Amino acid sequence: MSVLKALLEPRSIAVVGASRSPGKIGYTILRNIIEYGFKGELYPVNPNATEILGYRAYPSITAIPGEVDVAVVVIPAPETPKVIEECGKKGVKIAVVISSGFSEVGNTELEERIVKIAREYGVRILGPNIFGYAYTPRNINATFGPLEVAKGNIAFITQSGALGIALMGWTIMNEIGLSGLFSIGNMADIDVVELSELLADDPSTRVITVYLEGLKPGRGREFIERMSRVTLRKPVVVIKAGVTKRGMKAVASHTGSLAGSDALYEAAFKQAGIIRARTITELFNIARAFAQQPIPRGVNTVVITNGGGAGVLATDAAELNNVPLLEPSQQLVEKFKETMPWFGSPKNPVDLTGQAVVDNYIKALKVAVESPEVDNIVILYCRTAILDPRDLAKAIAEFYRENNVSKTTVIAFIGGVEVYEAIRYLNRSSIPAYPTPEEAVAALGKMLWYKKYLESRLKKQEVEAVRLALHPA
Ligand code: ACO
Repeated sequence: MSVLKALLEPRSIAVVGASRSPGKIGYTILRNIIEYGFKGELYPVNPNATEILGYRAYPSITAIPGEVDVAVVVIPAPETPKVIEECGKKGVKIAVVISSGFSEVGNTELEERIVKIAREYGVRILGPNIFGYAYTPRNINATFGPLEVAKGNIAFITQSGALGIALMGWTIMNEIGLSGLFSIGNMADIDVVELSELLADDPSTRVITVYLEGLKPGRGREFIERMSRVTLRKPVVVIKAGVTKRGMKAVASHTGSLAGSDALYEAAFKQAGIIRARTITELFNIARAFAQQPIPRGVNTVVITNGGGAGVLATDAAELNNVPLLEPSQQLVEKFKETMPWFGSPKNPVDLTGQAVVDNYIKALKVAVESPEVDNIVILYCRTAILDPRDLAKAIAEFYRENNVSKTTVIAFIGGVEVYEAIRYLNRSSIPAYPTPEEAVAALGKMLWYKKYLESRLKKQEVEAVRLALHPA
């Protein structure tokens, strides 16, 4: 077992600097680990306490009787070298160093010191300058972010702690489930590449998302080579921050990493098969599609809508995002015709008209799912008073579940408050739903790009193996 695997499956966690005072970071992390339901051994370490939050406290990590796999270190930076040395003596596998005050403020010497000590003992360091990590399959929330982390299949690696914390809340609101969340801060030791490799092996992760500010100098080639292997197993979606001149300066003072030229990163991502997102919304839109839907088998896409305008927007978006819209055969056109009023449009986009009710949608979906011409489906709905979006969402989810539909599908529901409820319902039912046609089609576009990328690097049966590994039939 690789040492890093202990991060995901620790038998025991120690919190060094577990505080007795509510409101302190060391208290919050210990409380989150307890309340999120970690099942292994838990050891608070604090020389001034005998018990914290109902757990026996130890004066030092070496005083703990059992083995310790992960030590979360939450003490002021100047005291960390001593604690890392103790971690080494204790045989700790991974030290998760929350403390700030290292290379991000020019204190590179202290950072190098803890890495050197850790290397001497074979301890690996996550951080420093991080908010911790979460791994939901094992009920681990070792962060000082919100307690609740929605469970799912998206892993998020972030160089920004604050952004990670904010996203924890956002993912819950939007019904986006995470397998793991890893704050990497200064990346003094464990970096984005190693974590991605770890997650490529993780059966609970279907897509890896990354907020990246920069890499360590001189690591570009290695990044491309190693990430190229990861992307042949799982999609990786990256948002790269610090693309403007001022943004680059901000990166230097945030995590101390090198933002570098945007064009270089763009080329590196392309070469490594990494999907680039330009905004946080896009990052998770794409991730959601990969987490919930299988990689497309083919490219031919059909749009089913109750609004002509939404259909036109989706058509434009398809053109702009390289999503080929199917030219349906006459036979297929005739079949679609039977699902709509006489004034509907059976071509692609299939316009069921504003008069459409649940029955029209389900009939049209049935035609699309059964047709060998159709590979992918985009379902659009504009709010009308004759069709409650929540009813439609329920019917679609039921149809997909009962028929075990494996054609890649994205949905856009456009409208008011009820639409938002319907979108959340669909997301919970593993069908990615968005508030605009453009977002839905753009997410599908990235899936098709990834499919093409895999096909350019792998044999046909290997692509199918990746597809099945991510979404078993
Ligand atoms: N071993 C074990 N326990 C110790 C040790 C030690 N060597 N030294 C101190 N402690 C105990 C203290 O007694 C205290 O417990 P108490 O509150 O019960 O008395 C506890 O550990 C914490 O020590 P403090 O000295 O009170 O430190 P404080 O909690 O104020 O700060 C911290 C520690 C949080 C690590 C701080 O130095 C720090 O780095 N803060 C920034 C963290 C951060 O923001 N990280 C990046 C996140 S990403 C983002 O952007 C959000």
